[in-house]
Amino acid sequence: MMLPRVAIMISGRGSNMEAIVASTREGVLRGRCEVCGVLASRGDAAGVALAEALAVPTRIVPSKGEDTQSYGLKLLGALESWSPDYLVLAGFMRILSPDVIAAYRGRIVNIHPADTAAYQGPDGYGWAAAHNLKQTMITVHLVDEGVDTGPVLCRRAVDLTGASTRDEIAQQGLRVEHAMYSECLADLLSGQYDALVSGIRSRNTRE
Ligand code: GRF
Repeated sequence: MMLPRVAIMISGRGSNMEAIVASTREGVLRGRCEVCGVLASRGDAAGVALAEALAVPTRIVPSKGEDTQSYGLKLLGALESWSPDYLVLAGFMRILSPDVIAAYRGRIVNIHPADTAAYQGPDGYGWAAAHNLKQTMITVHLVDEGVDTGPVLCRRAVDLTGASTRDEIAQQGLRVEHAMYSECLADLLSGQYDALVSGIRSRNTRE
């Protein structure tokens, strides 16, 4: 049986990537999908070495100096040979161009370390620290043309009592992220979010 193929896209540490790969081998994603490759926007991303150690194919598509449009075309070219069914963003720090969104509409997922309704943009844990939040929310969502604006698949609360610095908050949050991302992907793959997926797939932003 052919399993759905997932390409994971990273720019940094890669701890979510590592958790997802582990889950396909011995967790909730086992028998549900395979990671066909890890694409990194920079060669010095720690996650690249991590993926290599896990024997997952890697590809580096440097984003430095690229505008969104031309970078998007490079991404599409690089992804082509893997023929992924899904793009899973895990700390990928570039905005995807409308071409990429159109090519994979409804099949691109992101994890955001905050409630996307409350905060969009980078460093959601820094934002939680700056606002002394007692609780934050991790969000997994489908990706559309906006920044952290796509339909929400799942949200999970993280209790931040006892964590005050950004690093302490990130530590608590990442623990939740690592479990939650694979669980949410498993639900997506089993069809639980089909209504949201068809909603985003029927949008035509090019009209
Ligand atoms: C995570 O906090 C994720 O929510 C955000 O970027 C961070 C990536 O961390 N989008 P890692 O590279 O998976 O360790």
